[in-house]
Amino acid sequence: MRSFSTTLVALGSLLSAALATPHVQPTIRQAVTAEGLPSNGIPTVDNLKTAACKPWIAAAVEIQRALLYASPFSLALEAAGLPNGAADGSMLADPNEVLRPANNGLQTIVGLLRPLPAQFGVSHGDVLHLAGVLGVLACPGGPKIKTYVGRGEPKNISPDGLLPDPNDPVPVLTARFADMGFSVRELIALIGAHSTGKQRFVDPAFAGDAFDSTVDIWDVRFYSETQNRTAAPGTFRLNSDVNFSHNASTIAAWNRFVRNQDSWEGDYSKAHEKMSLLGLDADTLTDCTEILPRSIDISSLTVPGFSGDGDPTVDPVKLEAAIQEFRSIWL
Ligand code: HEM
Ligand SMILES: *[C@@H]1O[C@H](CO)[C@@H](O)[C@H](O)[C@H]1NC(C)=O
Ligand SMILES: *[C@@H]1O[C@H](CO)[C@@H](O)[C@H](O)[C@H]1NC(C)=O
Ligand SMILES: *[C@@H]1O[C@H](CO)[C@@H](O)[C@H](O)[C@H]1NC(C)=O
Repeated sequence: MRSFSTTLVALGSLLSAALATPHVQPTIRQAVTAEGLPSNGIPTVDNLKTAACKPWIAAAVEIQRALLYASPFSLALEAAGLPNGAADGSMLADPNEVLRPANNGLQTIVGLLRPLPAQFGVSHGDVLHLAGVLGVLACPGGPKIKTYVGRGEPKNISPDGLLPDPNDPVPVLTARFADMGFSVRELIALIGAHSTGKQRFVDPAFAGDAFDSTVDIWDVRFYSETQNRTAAPGTFRLNSDVNFSHNASTIAAWNRFVRNQDSWEGDYSKAHEKMSLLGLDADTLTDCTEILPRSIDISSLTVPGFSGDGDPTVDPVKLEAAIQEFRSIWL
């Protein structure tokens, strides 16, 4: 995981802050369909029920563009790890935190996001969380996660060295997460974000290897492949993930998500939402989930004839078309 560095330490002392009205207007405009969402799946100011969320449409457009511009698709995927990394936004607010080796790979996107809090008059934590949520949504299959705004500014840079070590034993890792308030089931759901992850530093000889064979897709292949005795070709498996998939204390939670996309998406969404609220009082924040664009449904992209045995195969041509359609709406 990317920088678990903030966790509760800085978060506990956060204050909520009211949003200032941004001065930049959204540039995406589309007709509204009967379902309430515009035909392109991106809400407009006119669609929103919560007035306080309106300024966020423009910020979301800007953030989503930053994510997609940042790179080939994979940087958007990377953003899935962001919220974890700096729940209070200290990685954005502090010029040095992102320079730590543990945060390598995030510098580009952080550089693109950094001007946005000032541009829109919103907090660093909110921008980072919105980036995480939009990053998940930019992944084909990524669910909508309840999105809150109104966090205050971080009080301190996160302590270094809090990253969970993939060579730690299972009980140490589950205790770490329990200490943050996460159950084993929530931890195992969150770990599924490795579905779109790659490693660079665990074994530099295999830098760039993904954790499953479908790194571009927010799917549950990660769970079955990690548990398989044989690694899928070209993939890299963390000891911690392999051990979670077999250990008596975690296998039941693991199996819950094996070949069960719906089960995982539901659990992941709830756990990610909880992560985004660590140390905060949801009552002081505003739920602006309605600003999110539609998600990319991968069940419509699978190769016909899927029998229900094993993981479904996504048709690469349909996948590419779905990705291009999503990108073209924003860019
Ligand atoms: C026991 C807990 C965890 C451990 C030991 C762990 C460990 C790791 C390691 C070693 C990497 C590769 C870093 C590299 O070499 O570049 C990684 C990547 C990643 N992790 Fe985790 N992780 C954990 C939990 C999580 C959680 C809870 C999330 C998100 C909800 C997450 C999201 C990611 C993502 C998105 C990447 C890919 C980053 C990239 O592609 O550059 N991890 N994790
Ligand atoms: C993971 O499990 C293997 C055996 O299944 C064990 O040898 C190894 O020490 C475990 N790693 C950790 C970090 O617990
Ligand atoms: C599996 O979990 C148990 C506790 O439930 C622990 O004692 C054991 O060391 C774990 N095994 C590995 C390989 O991490
Ligand atoms: C395990 O992996 C092997 C080799 O990739 C594959 O042939 C097999 O179908 C997999 N088994 C399961 C249960 O997914």
